Amino acid sequence: MIFETIVTTINADGSPHMAPFGIRESNGLVCIAPFRPSTSLDNLLRSRCAVLNLTDDVRVFAGSLTGRRDWPLRRAQVVMGWVLESALAHRELQLVEVRDDVIRPELLFQVVHEQMHAPFRGFNRAQAAVIEASVLVSRLQMLPPEKIDAELKYLAIAVEKTAGEREWQAWNWLLEQIENFRAAQRGENQA
Ligand SMILES: Cc1cc2nc3c(=O)[nH]c(=O)nc-3n(C[C@H](O)[C@H](O)[C@H](O)COP(=O)(O)O)c2cc1C
Repeated sequence: MIFETIVTTINADGSPHMAPFGIRESNGLVCIAPFRPSTSLDNLLRSRCAVLNLTDDVRVFAGSLTGRRDWPLRRAQVVMGWVLESALAHRELQLVEVRDDVIRPELLFQVVHEQMHAPFRGFNRAQAAVIEASVLVSRLQMLPPEKIDAELKYLAIAVEKTAGEREWQAWNWLLEQIENFRAAQRGENQA
């Protein structure tokens, strides 16, 4: 089973970095598997720790893929790292094993601290749709445009029926990103 999370890491200059990652759990360890090249991977190998943020603010997912990474953070408790203010819960991770690979290494972490901050309020279809659309945006270079359009058309139903303000904002950032990508491909000048 894969859970979609926001992983915060520390850049070489000490500043925070965040990116969405689907993580797996096995034998009590958390597995993060970044495709190379990845800033998160470099940071994880250097600092050997991370924070796993579990948030229902899908703007953080969409924002990470559309150049909006300035979300409120506070210091982690046990590891050197950063916790998203909007996290419903977070887990602090220490690297214990690296399964190296030229394409997609697997990094295994022990959970050294865990904290709940706010209750889970139930499933929301628009949030799920934004996560799916974020995955599409992270693969714009690889996917045929017709597939993206067909999936967006379906995902839009859940957004239109169930979104709140945060979900609409995230959704619109993603649509804008797709439009900019296509305009750049057509050779149009984006101001
Ligand atoms: C929901 C979601 C899950 C993702 N999971 C992964 C993942 O498991 N591995 C990966 O390499 N990229 C994943 N991505 C894409 C990365 O977030 C994206 O490429 C990001 O820029 C990571 O690169 P960085 O570490 O250089 O910032 C995911 C994106 C989304 C929206």
